[in-house]
Amino acid sequence: MHRGITVAFIVVATMPLIQPLVLGDDFECEGQQCAEVRRGVIAFLDRHVGGLSGNGRACADCHMPTNSFQLSPASVEARYQLLQFLHRFDPKADDPLFRPIDADDFRIHGANASDYTTMRRNGLIRVTLPLPPNVKLIDPATNLPSAEASVDVWRAVPSVTNVALTGPDGHVFVPRGPNAGGGYQLDARITTLQEQALQAFINHAQVQKTPAQQTLDDLNAFQLTLFSSTGVRALANAVSKGTSPLPDPDPPLSPLEEQGKAVFVRACAQCHGGPGGSASQLPLVARFHDINTTCPRPVDTVSPSRFSFEPCPSGLAEKVRTYEFTLANGSKVRRASSDPGRALLTGFIGGPPLLDDWNKLDVPGLHGISQTAPYFHNNSAATLEDAVKHYIEFFKFAQTQAPPGVIPPVLTTDGIHIDRPVKPEETAALVAYLRKL
Ligand code: HEC
Ligand code: HEC
Repeated sequence: MHRGITVAFIVVATMPLIQPLVLGDDFECEGQQCAEVRRGVIAFLDRHVGGLSGNGRACADCHMPTNSFQLSPASVEARYQLLQFLHRFDPKADDPLFRPIDADDFRIHGANASDYTTMRRNGLIRVTLPLPPNVKLIDPATNLPSAEASVDVWRAVPSVTNVALTGPDGHVFVPRGPNAGGGYQLDARITTLQEQALQAFINHAQVQKTPAQQTLDDLNAFQLTLFSSTGVRALANAVSKGTSPLPDPDPPLSPLEEQGKAVFVRACAQCHGGPGGSASQLPLVARFHDINTTCPRPVDTVSPSRFSFEPCPSGLAEKVRTYEFTLANGSKVRRASSDPGRALLTGFIGGPPLLDDWNKLDVPGLHGISQTAPYFHNNSAATLEDAVKHYIEFFKFAQTQAPPGVIPPVLTTDGIHIDRPVKPEETAALVAYLRKL
């Protein structure tokens, strides 16, 4: 591995995080073993963990401690520009965020790939998933099923703060696919943080040797100490101790934020419920939902149009692939998506809405959300205002999908009135509250 100038971590900026772990006698390590947590921080930042012969990437290269443990397109671009600047002085200058596996032209140019447009513009990382046995990709050149056994989808890097609260919630609605009760990754395909770290070492850091179980345990312990606020930290501690009633994680709220909270409880908490904000509440039982964030997005055929989603940001439309599913009765169905979500894990489509896995994603937690723009699995909403705007259309779209005379639970509290949707005039209050989560 060559060594030029390496774009260093801004260790000083991570000190507020590391200090209490290293120095604090009274720091309880959030119920984790302090020795594991300390080793975990180091493993998280280490670009060459235990000589695993990887590509030089640390967890912190994507889950940036200076960026709320996620990755924004702005951070990618700043690092890209810094690297170009350093290359003028040292052709070997390096930032391991930029590795060919996450370049757009990787499938064409392999190890020589160098087009980082999707990372720089959208902040997205390549995630390669095997196709279920009954699913084929359609070759755009021939319009026939291709021989591909896996597919690339492009996903945002989620924050690893609050992972103590957002894993499996044990509430199984449809026992199908991995982690029917929720899990880690945007599609919940992974059960534990140890397994998650192992997959990250293999897929993102391209390690040649298997990491030690202790390293995975250390990373687990460290991540379980990361919270977006003291209120959320106290809540997680209470959950793990089984305290009842649980403390309210919200800080004191202004009247506007209180109004926003009422909107949130009515319109949003039905999916973003429970302590982590990722557990669906009755009567909306499913943990996985399609909220029309994938591409292409529905366009109304009726005029005047009853809903109108923002078109997908540039670059995402070209990530759309057409899939052919062979159903249980032998018939074949083709559908197009930039990211079919749970359907890539189960191969199951074609049931009534709640049962269909097409485009379904795990409901993410929303604590600390003001720190982690842009939003959604493909970073398609730049701001919280844009995310709320998207939901206003989502609720309108849901009304057009219901069979005549039926009001789906997502729209109603009493089964009679459409009283859940967020209204445009509620946006300011709702966003003010979202910033306090
Ligand atoms: C190349 C960038 C990259 C690197 C390096 C990386 N991750 Fe990730 N991480 C991602 C992406 C992208 C996702 C979402 C993937 C998906 O949903 O399929 C993710 C998801 C996660 C999640 C799931 C969070 C949740 O709420 O479900 C955890 C935990 C995590 N990573 C931990 C780690 C650890 C620990 C390491 C180091 C061993 C690591 N990551 C290295 C990009 C990265
Ligand atoms: C039907 C269930 C459902 C409802 C109702 C719902 N959400 Fe979501 N929410 C989801 C799912 C699923 C995702 C993940 C989608 C994605 O990543 O593309 C999500 C993602 C988000 C995100 C992005 C999180 C991130 O880290 O990028 C925000 C912000 C958000 N929701 C806010 C809200 C607000 C505000 C409301 C109420 C107006 C709301 N949600 C109502 C299911 C729901």
